[in-house]
Amino acid sequence: MSATADPEHLPTYRITMICSGNICRSPMAEVVLADLVANSPYAGAVAVDSAGLGSWHVGDGADHRTIQVLADNGHDGSRHVVRQFSPDWFAERDLVLAADSSHVRDLRRLAARSGIPGAEAKVAYLRSFDPAAVSAGTLEVDDPWYGSIRDFRRTYAEVTGACRGIVQALPELLAAGRSARPGDGAAAADAAGAADADG
Ligand code: 4NP
Repeated sequence: MSATADPEHLPTYRITMICSGNICRSPMAEVVLADLVANSPYAGAVAVDSAGLGSWHVGDGADHRTIQVLADNGHDGSRHVVRQFSPDWFAERDLVLAADSSHVRDLRRLAARSGIPGAEAKVAYLRSFDPAAVSAGTLEVDDPWYGSIRDFRRTYAEVTGACRGIVQALPELLAAGRSARPGDGAAAADAAGAADADG
């Protein structure tokens, strides 16, 4: 996780970013959100990590274009190590944020099978936190992997818009997350307006 212990000894609010390979979209979102949180009043109260649903790149670093675009915008993505998501993580996370509709579908299936109370309600689209994306009806963060550096810049803009929205939503998320514990992320997802992730 990218954040330190909660200075108020309250439970840390835990957010996991998900994509397919954990080399492009989710590590970008992890680094951007961790840096935004570190420079906000919520530093230390939120932990951010990321994982892929696939195992192809486990142990690798982020794609060099992810690292490049992050560096161009003042972020360090060079320390990322790819991991694969495991359904038992639902017990330890407050929000599991999906890059695209295939991840929402797969995460909901894994959540339902996990038997972990409240797991399905923890799944939402990353871009459901970006009011502009919600109004435009474009919740997907398209895969830039087969694309050019220009596609990675678009990914950066999309995940940054969403991460700014997450920081804006943190007071409500933290309040809902803490009152909902143990084991029920529904209040947190509702607080974000994130429960409707079917689109
Ligand atoms: P990501 O992009 O999910 O944004 O990390 C991808 C990276 C690798 C693969 C698919 C998507 N792959 O099939 O290996």
